[in-house]
Amino acid sequence: MDYLSITKANTLHGSINISGSKNAALPLIAMCILAHNCVNLSNMPCVKDISTLMTLLQNLGSTYTFKNNQAAIDTSKILHTKATYDIVKTMRASILVLGPLLARFGHCEVSLPGGCAIGQRPVDLHLKALEQMGASIEIKSGYIQAKAPKGLKGADIVFDKITVTGTANIIMAAALAHGTTTITNAAKEPEVVQLCEILSKSGIKIEGIATSSLTIAGTSGKLIEIAPVAIIPDRIEAGTYLCAGAITKSSLTLNGANHEHLHAVISKLEEMGCTFTLTCNAITIHPAKNLRPINIVTQEYPAFPTDMQAQFLALATQANGTSIIEERLFENRFMHISELQRMGADIKLNGHVATITGKTKLSGTDVMATDLRASSALILAALVADKKTTVHRIYHLDRGYEKLEQKLQNVGADILRLKE
Ligand code: EPZ
Repeated sequence: MDYLSITKANTLHGSINISGSKNAALPLIAMCILAHNCVNLSNMPCVKDISTLMTLLQNLGSTYTFKNNQAAIDTSKILHTKATYDIVKTMRASILVLGPLLARFGHCEVSLPGGCAIGQRPVDLHLKALEQMGASIEIKSGYIQAKAPKGLKGADIVFDKITVTGTANIIMAAALAHGTTTITNAAKEPEVVQLCEILSKSGIKIEGIATSSLTIAGTSGKLIEIAPVAIIPDRIEAGTYLCAGAITKSSLTLNGANHEHLHAVISKLEEMGCTFTLTCNAITIHPAKNLRPINIVTQEYPAFPTDMQAQFLALATQANGTSIIEERLFENRFMHISELQRMGADIKLNGHVATITGKTKLSGTDVMATDLRASSALILAALVADKKTTVHRIYHLDRGYEKLEQKLQNVGADILRLKE
């Protein structure tokens, strides 16, 4: 297994190219199930979760090519509609094939994704909405068995909780349904907005894009033609590198980043004392001389994203004073705390609220990644820790960060990928 060896960085210099968004790409890959043509997707990030979902589609009978961040996916030859546990267990976002498969074929079997490190992560809201659209849903031996032999019908869906992949699943199901579907309390994340925009360009009538109330007119089972897609930049990858600039007191430029998707993150970094130069496709951070402490509550977009919580928790250890970070979306998304404490961080956890007292001197040691974003938090801490840090189990990191060590090496970080 690979691990990362990181030594304290002097100031970093230069620019980092931001990759396409993993969380935009995943629903867009599932969306190809709705198309009769081979769909071209550019700016596709080369990360594990993406290849996992493409492999899942391939196992169903689709074909794809994926090279130099360009993908072409053809689902015209799908032979069966069973997404098996061996793949789904490795990536819960596989649930995104449920809506499109059911809408197109009238039946499918998708393994229950099960929870993951950060929480139980049920899919009850996805299933309830599909039942409202006329599907019969049974759970048998760990599989969701969904049937809608006459196709799905439009319905008025109200999500009890805002769910990102739940919203994406129902948008895709509604695209081929008979009649119109409304979704109230829809997620407004940029990744969901891009899915709506691409479907709209493909002839699906969608109103309320980028709002929490969507209206989707279905094609009654007719497949669509999807023009080439350019995937939006990854706002969480960009936010992570902004934190790298802030924690190492380095001025960094992120090429390809869209600051419009990062208002909450940039505003928190400004509160901590950083300043920014923003252009239409780049962000430059000018670090604070001394970081001020910060209070954060994670909420749905456009509020502060839960996917940036771990990175800010690491950053807060270098702020002068007490910071408070509350995690409201997931029940177990503080596993990075114990590893940061082993590096010398002063963090107290009370339920879902972490209190971080800084500025603390961090000291490098062996640490273990527990989930995707926790991995990046440990790397941020390692960049400012005395002595060398080794970060193990970085297969978590490889799920969602493309070429992270090369990108950091290119701006002067001392980071190596080695084999256990
Ligand atoms: C998406 O996960 C992202 N993943 C996550 O990013 C992100 O953390 C999350 O949204 C929140 O922003 C992808 O887009 C692939 P949810 P998702 O459904 O859709 C509860 C990363 O690091 N819920 O919005 O699975 C759920 O338990 C990943 O890139 C139900 O109760 O998250 C959670 O508490 C991690 N029932 C809350 O809603 C349901 O049926 C939000 O979950 C669905 C969700």
